[in-house]
Amino acid sequence: MPENRKKPLLFEKYPDLEADIPWIKLAPLRTPVKKLTILEKKLGINSLWVKCDNLSSPLYGGNKVRKLEFLLADATDKGYKKVMTAGGLGSNHCVATATFCNQLNLKPSAVLADQPITSHVRNNLLLDLYFKNKIIYTDEYDKVPRDPDVYYMVPGGSTPLGNLGFVNAALELKNQINNGDIPEPDYLFVASGSSGTAAGLLLGFKIAELKTKLHSVQTSFAPYCSFNAVRRLAKKTWKLLAKSYNSIPKAPIEQLNFNKDYFGGEYGLPTQEGIDAVKLIKEAEDITLETTYTGKTFAALLGFVRANEKKKIKDKTILFWNTYNSRDFLDILTKLDYHDLPQEIHWVFENPLTDFGLEKN
Ligand SMILES: Cc1ncc(COP(=O)(O)O)c(C=O)c1O
Repeated sequence: MPENRKKPLLFEKYPDLEADIPWIKLAPLRTPVKKLTILEKKLGINSLWVKCDNLSSPLYGGNKVRKLEFLLADATDKGYKKVMTAGGLGSNHCVATATFCNQLNLKPSAVLADQPITSHVRNNLLLDLYFKNKIIYTDEYDKVPRDPDVYYMVPGGSTPLGNLGFVNAALELKNQINNGDIPEPDYLFVASGSSGTAAGLLLGFKIAELKTKLHSVQTSFAPYCSFNAVRRLAKKTWKLLAKSYNSIPKAPIEQLNFNKDYFGGEYGLPTQEGIDAVKLIKEAEDITLETTYTGKTFAALLGFVRANEKKKIKDKTILFWNTYNSRDFLDILTKLDYHDLPQEIHWVFENPLTDFGLEKN
């Protein structure tokens, strides 16, 4: 069960950070790890696990809350009352940001750009409505006029400050290993979009003394999503910590593997492997993924298992980091009406959905 945190493990390990780094608790966090025994049997391997960041918050789970604990603390410490960020029309990051802005009495807005439309995109737009996210529909975030009263957050929240959420997450994993909850993973698979999640984990591996190989799976375009993007962000995140503790070790780049093979060429475009992976994990373990990030990442994990000789990886520990929210919004969604969204995006609900092999599920 999640423990009740008073402060990030990172502050416990490096106490001076508390004075230098903004942080506010937004969720119980410390997410559980779970063994995927049915899938292990199906795949012929013995140690397959999931890190349940889907349970990071009862309000809106997934990976973003870890970053937002640092970023929204920064916004409130600096006296901002409004926060703006950006993403695709179906952005989980924008929904997550709005959720926790509501909790802190900050007014959220989201600059949303086109992406392939799925029912997941529609649902997230309705959640933007539910969480009172003011929507600006354009793919040019940079050109939106800047207002000095607004705290601007990069898409995905992948700044050095935000990435600390995942440095901390690596320490959390280390504690779970020390407690005997999970063996030290040989391989960890995680989705990379704006790359901060992977960058934070990689740096965190060194700080937590984990030898795990990080498989960061491409789900978006370079320059935001690439081997170099992860490396660059890990370095910048290290620099932020090194201001307070110059003995902090640098990210172990040799532990990073960047996997481009499951992207499918377009952000948000469902791929057949991704769709199949979403179905498999749902049927076997009742875990719900989506097709933009986590489906492609789980497909990469399956591809890795299938491509390797069973003998070599049968007893290796493989961890899938589930970065997708699992709060069920079904009741809420049925009460929301897309006509209350800005007129210029009504087409998202009015045009028929493309059949990616998904919509009937
Ligand atoms: C479900 C999910 N997984 C993974 C990611 C990627 O995280 P990052 O942007 O830190 O690479 C996102 C980003 O929005 C996401 O929504």
